[in-house]
Amino acid sequence: MGEIKKVVLAYSGGLDTSVILKWLQEEYGAEVITFTADLGQGEDLEKVRERAIKTGASKVYIEDLKEEFVYNYVFPALKAGAVYESKYMLSTALGRPLIAKKLVEIAEKEGADAVAHGCTGKGNDQVRFEVTVSALNPNLKVLAPVREWSMRSREEEIEYAMKHGIPVEATKKSPYSVDLNLWGRSIECGVLEDPWVEPPEEVFKLTVSPKEAPDEPTYLEIEFREGIPVALNGEEMNGVELIQKLNEIAGRNGVGRVDLVENRLVGIKSREVYEHPAATVLHTALRGLEEITLERETRHFKEILANKYAELVYYGLWFHPLREAIDSFMNTIHRTTTGTVRVKLFKGSCAVVGRKSPYSLYDYSLATYEKGDMFDHKAAEGFIKLWGLPLKIKAAVDSKAKGE
Ligand code: ARG
Repeated sequence: MGEIKKVVLAYSGGLDTSVILKWLQEEYGAEVITFTADLGQGEDLEKVRERAIKTGASKVYIEDLKEEFVYNYVFPALKAGAVYESKYMLSTALGRPLIAKKLVEIAEKEGADAVAHGCTGKGNDQVRFEVTVSALNPNLKVLAPVREWSMRSREEEIEYAMKHGIPVEATKKSPYSVDLNLWGRSIECGVLEDPWVEPPEEVFKLTVSPKEAPDEPTYLEIEFREGIPVALNGEEMNGVELIQKLNEIAGRNGVGRVDLVENRLVGIKSREVYEHPAATVLHTALRGLEEITLERETRHFKEILANKYAELVYYGLWFHPLREAIDSFMNTIHRTTTGTVRVKLFKGSCAVVGRKSPYSLYDYSLATYEKGDMFDHKAAEGFIKLWGLPLKIKAAVDSKAKGE
C-alpha cells in the first residue's frame, strides 16, 4: 500500500474508533490526527478531545458542522422529498458525505497520505465514506481497519484497549448500535435483528411512546420560503434551531418512529429502527404545501425524482452529477413553494390540517360545488370525447379484427 506516515481518522470517541486510533499508530507507525464532526449529536465533545489526546492523537479537530449539515445536505434532501424505501429520512446517510468531505479537506491541509474510518465491511457507511473520498480526492488512500484487523468481538477490542492503556468507559455497553444527528437517530442490532420482535421501548430516546404522549393535540404553524422552513409558530429562526425545537415538540408527541427492514447497498436486508421527529414533521408539512403550489404534472414527476434522489443519497453518491442536476430541478419548481402549513401532532401521528400560500393554485371558484361555481361544465363533454378517442378507435379496430 506504500508507506503511510500521516492519517486523518474520523473519530467518534467510542471504543471502535479509539482502538483504531491506537492500532494505526502501532500497525503503520503512522501519526494520527483525529476529526470529530458536531452534527448535533449532543455529546460532550471536550471529553472526546481528551480521549483522543490520551490515546495518542497528534492533533485533534472538532468542528461544529450543524449549520452546513442543515443548509447544504438536510434541506436539499427535504426539498427533494428524499425518503428511502418510503420510510427512512436518511439522517445517517446525509451526514456521511459531509464528514468525508471534511476528512479530505483536513488531510489536504495536513499533508496526510490517508484517511481512516471505523465502519464495518457490511454496511452502507463504508461505501459512503470511500466513494466520497475518491470523488473529492482520488489520490488519498482510505483505511478501514475494522475490515482489516483480526479482532472479531467487542471483548477482543476491550482487551486490546486495556493492553494499550486506552481509557475504556466503565458503563455497560448497550446491545444496540446507534447513530445520531440533528436529522434523526438510527438504531440497530440486539433484539432488533429479529424482524418479528417489536422494538422494545428502551431503544427510543428522542420520542416518547404514543401511549404516553399528551391527550390533547399540539398544533404547529410552519412557514416555508421557496421550499425551506424559515419560521415556527410565527417566529423566524435558523434551520438548526428550528429542527432542534421540532425534535423536542414532535418527540414529546411520540411522532417520528419508524421500523424498517431495508435493502442495504451491499445486498443484504437489515432491520433498522429510526426516530426522526423533526424530519417527519417537515417532510409532512412541505408535502402539504406542495399540494397547493405545484402544478399536477410537475408534482407527479417530482415523485419519481424524489425516489431517485433518496437512492443516490442512500447509495453514497452525494457528489454525483445527477444529484446536482436534481437539485437544480427542485430549486426551480420550489420558487413558488412559499407559504404556511398547519400541522397537528397527536399521539404519534402528524397530519397537515391547513395550508396557504400566495402562490396557491387552488381556485375556490373552480373547485366549489356551492354557489359561485365558475367551472365550465359544458367544456367537459368535448374534453372527454377527445380524451377517450384513442380507446374508442382501438376498440373499433379490435372488434373488426375479430370478424364482427
Ligand atoms: N441503515 C442506516 C443507513 O444505512 C443507518 C446506518 C447506521 N446505523 C446504526 N445504527 N449505526 O443509512
